[in-house]
Amino acid sequence: MFKIIGTGSYLPEKVMSNFDLEKLVDTTDEWIRERTGIQERRIAQDNQSNSDLAVNAAKNALSSANIKPQDVELLIVGTSTPDYAVPAVAPIIQHKLGCNNIPAFDINSVCSSFAYSLITAAGFLNSGFYNNCLVIGSDIYSRILNWHDRATCCIFGDGAGAVVITKDQSTKGILSHNYGAKGEDAELIKIPVGGSKYPAHFLHNNYKKEDFYFQMAGLDVYEFTIITVPRVINDLLIQANLTIFDIDWVILHQANIRIIESVSKKTKIPLEKFIVNIQKVGNTSSASIPIALDEAVKQGKIKRKDKLMMIGFGGGLSWGGLIIEW
Ligand code: UT7
Repeated sequence: MFKIIGTGSYLPEKVMSNFDLEKLVDTTDEWIRERTGIQERRIAQDNQSNSDLAVNAAKNALSSANIKPQDVELLIVGTSTPDYAVPAVAPIIQHKLGCNNIPAFDINSVCSSFAYSLITAAGFLNSGFYNNCLVIGSDIYSRILNWHDRATCCIFGDGAGAVVITKDQSTKGILSHNYGAKGEDAELIKIPVGGSKYPAHFLHNNYKKEDFYFQMAGLDVYEFTIITVPRVINDLLIQANLTIFDIDWVILHQANIRIIESVSKKTKIPLEKFIVNIQKVGNTSSASIPIALDEAVKQGKIKRKDKLMMIGFGGGLSWGGLIIEW
């Protein structure tokens, strides 16, 4: 049993429009809008790191939950772009927030990281270990993108979102969850060089320049997604003993408007129930669900007792979905 008692988000000030991208790579505003739904995205300033974005989102979430940093007992950060390869970014965020000495760790399941983190946090609360937990999704993909690769650099943006969850007997909390990975396709989304298998300093490997950057086999991932997400929705509904008519809101990872439209069509969940902000923020990876959630809460869309479905998907290839009672 848990309740989300606060949400927060943070977007860097700098807006990069599709027209700005036209000056960088061989693309058009029309192509990006028609194929993805994106019109603009935010890009962090050079002096901002992932932890800075995360701290801003977390402060907003703590203030909307009306709790102090000292009341947080567990911090989980979903991210695939931590400040450093080592250590995790969560302890850095913990220190900047003043949640001193609490357990703080990262979960990296790429764009599913926030969903994985929320499911993990709920498990800790249900186990009775903690009462208050801060869950953040924060990513700064502008730092790992190949700005010469139009197939990826036009899609992503930077941002962070956060929720405070607390043990609560008055709501049911998670009604169902479903997460997993199709590891055989793990290499469809990757940064080939810079990990421990191919370290950047192994110069004898004569790496290609593009192998230092984020790469995605877009079409294959698209096909994985439009098959996987409807299946996950079906499984979530069966596990929760609900039908599509019981669901008030759906927040899918904001990867592509065409994915959202396809899922709506396949599952017969009306498009109006999907919370969509991809046009303004692009794909912010693990931040996309908590940013969209925060906006919907602030707009007064989501009301107590509403049933909300959230599903992340992406690198791994992973997926993570849950239905919660708000
Ligand atoms: O967040 C993690 C999960 N990610 C996803 O779920 C993403 C899933 N994939 C997608 O959303 C889409 O596959 C993309 C948006 C990434 C790409 O859209 P697409 O319609 O699948 O394009 P494509 O990769 O099949 O490429 C079609 C054509 C290619 O040109 P040729 O080879 O047919 O001449 C690309 O080079 O479109 C070209 N293209 C572009 N053209 C103009 C790719 N990117 C661009 C671009 N501007 N930005």
